Amino acid sequence: MTNPSLLILPGDGIGPEVMTEVRKIIDWFGAKRDLVFDVSEDLVGGCAYDKHGTPLHDDTMAKAQEVDAVLLGAVGGPKYDSLDFSLKPERGLLRLRKEMDLYANLRPAQCFDALADFSSLKKDVVAGLDIMIVRELTSGVYFGEPRGIFEEGNERVGINTQRYTESEIDRVARSAFELAMRRNKKLCSMEKGNVMESGVLWREVVIEVGKDYPEVELSHMYADAGAMQLTRWPKQFDVIVTDNLFGDLLSDLAAMLTGSLGMLPSASLGAPMENGRPKALYEPVHGSAPDIAGQGKANPIACILSFAMALRYSFDQGAEADRLEQAVEAVLAQGLRTADLLGEEGVTPVSTAEMGDAIVAALDATV
Ligand code: IPM
Ligand code: MG
Repeated sequence: MTNPSLLILPGDGIGPEVMTEVRKIIDWFGAKRDLVFDVSEDLVGGCAYDKHGTPLHDDTMAKAQEVDAVLLGAVGGPKYDSLDFSLKPERGLLRLRKEMDLYANLRPAQCFDALADFSSLKKDVVAGLDIMIVRELTSGVYFGEPRGIFEEGNERVGINTQRYTESEIDRVARSAFELAMRRNKKLCSMEKGNVMESGVLWREVVIEVGKDYPEVELSHMYADAGAMQLTRWPKQFDVIVTDNLFGDLLSDLAAMLTGSLGMLPSASLGAPMENGRPKALYEPVHGSAPDIAGQGKANPIACILSFAMALRYSFDQGAEADRLEQAVEAVLAQGLRTADLLGEEGVTPVSTAEMGDAIVAALDATV
């Protein structure tokens, strides 16, 4: 049997330094658990633009289509702010999502016990929080046509188009129901059907798909009310399914509830490939944080937990994913904290590399 393949795209800013720590974890699974990956590495984002004049080279795109999973660090930086839209680092990421057709973006928001004090909300509101946002990722206003800045009379008009087909809603809804079945069997769908036709259709299709999942308790909220409920009492939710733009906003909101943006992973999944594995890209929810890049201040945990999600969703290694997640929790319980999580009494500040090493040591303690 050939080893599963993994394409690593560290990207810009803190991407490369957090990915260095993930490589230690990948190596550990190879050495200690006999889980060997064929790892290749390439460029995406600003660094790809610097080398090739495009944020994603066609060869890299082709490689991404072939591997079993892609693991991405982060893209972007102020250096690229003035570039044309089509050349910006973010376009590299959007091209990967679109061409791999990664329509279901899973963004867990989980509050780690050791970090519950870190939230800007009261501890009892967030302690034990464990919700999953499923964001549609390949359509909606991010990709709808027409789009652009046009002349109209004597002024300009900026246009983007929210557009969803029934099949696009159907497939992401199905992913969300499937996840809900494996969790607490509660799904809340969020749209703005009170003002948007696309939201009316969204709700209709979700209700239709729900008939195939009678065990899942389905509810609906307008996305603005959903944002309010997420801050008021987030533990009322289990799985939330929503469109591309609302999902972008609500997942940042949910991430901050946990007090630890540097901790949150994500998975972007598409249709199954020939080998049965879904097309998949894993990446931290945080960005490239250019202000702290290269200083050993970045928290590698979001990227490490993204690899845990790859173990679970691409490689059918749920038990090994649990092992890695428990190692992360153990290290946090020991009081080790990267620069983004300092402030409490009695914690031990560590660098990016020290955090990676500590997680490897915690993994060692499990075997
Ligand atoms: C995200 C980011 C991206 C998005 C950017 C970098 C294009 O905010 O993954 O949430 O808007 O989707
Ligand atoms: Mg975002």
